[in-house]
Amino acid sequence: MTAPLLLTGACGRVAQLLLPGLGERPLRLLDRTTPADPADVPADAEVLTGELTDRDLLARAVEGVEAVVHLAGDPSPTATWEELRSPNVDGFAALLGAAADHGVRRVVYASSVHAMGRYEATGRVPVDPAWAPAPCCPYGATKAFDEAVAGVFAHRWGLSTIGLRLGATVPVPTKRSQLTGWLGPQDLRDLVTRALTASVVTGVYPAVSGAERSHWDLRLAADELGYRPSLDSRDHAGAVEDDGTDVTTCPPPDVPRAPGG
Ligand SMILES: NC(=O)c1ccc[n+]([C@@H]2O[C@H](COP(=O)([O-])OP(=O)(O)OC[C@H]3O[C@@H](n4cnc5c(N)ncnc54)[C@H](O)[C@@H]3O)[C@@H](O)[C@H]2O)c1
Repeated sequence: MTAPLLLTGACGRVAQLLLPGLGERPLRLLDRTTPADPADVPADAEVLTGELTDRDLLARAVEGVEAVVHLAGDPSPTATWEELRSPNVDGFAALLGAAADHGVRRVVYASSVHAMGRYEATGRVPVDPAWAPAPCCPYGATKAFDEAVAGVFAHRWGLSTIGLRLGATVPVPTKRSQLTGWLGPQDLRDLVTRALTASVVTGVYPAVSGAERSHWDLRLAADELGYRPSLDSRDHAGAVEDDGTDVTTCPPPDVPRAPGG
């Protein structure tokens, strides 16, 4: 029997876009919430409900699993350090530890273009994934940390870790700011499938669809994952709201830091 794939954050927006692309493989789903609609859960999937920081739950979640797609986390660029620390830092490190302890082969995890957002916000585009991380917000900094700790697990404990710096992951772009960094559903599914099987021990890749004057250099994803976007935001450019910017990540700061932010 094929070993199950663990999907964390299974009730979230990205997971709901991804699930139809995961094929017939056995699935184990983990989230702190239960699905709003039982129809959102694929037939035969095992469902685990609880916190990423619950080590007993994590041990059950990774038992017998061959690979993990990790999407659980706080996706908010305006969240505070306090809000982000448990889901994005402690929870991810706990997941990697459990995966390494239980012989999981690979963890594919959601990073974000916000881990490189300072380049975009200051006009250094297209952003080369070989450049040093340059987060634009606390959220982006937690993703940069995740990339660093994932590399440590690969280097030190033999766990293969592939980070995907997701752009704006929505069915279609609805704002001008999403046009240079949109990730559409088919490309999300293709990238995750490629990341699960690529002959790479560890790496981090921008994860966006095609775009006119894209802000994200996809050559490494093409070379190492074989990724070529099938979608292009140009096809939606005429129908988006003009929100006054081409920047998908946070704009340069113009307000004082919020308390705890
Ligand atoms: N949506 C985007 O455009 C986008 C862009 C870049 C990166 N990402 C990343 O992709 C991932 C998924 O994003 P999303 O938009 O689907 O977010 P979401 O909030 O819709 O879904 C996240 C899911 O994770 C679960 N979760 C959060 N913390 C948890 C914890 N401690 N234990 C167990 N479950 C927990 C939530 O209940 C939720 O169902 C996140 O890591 C996010 O940072 C998303």
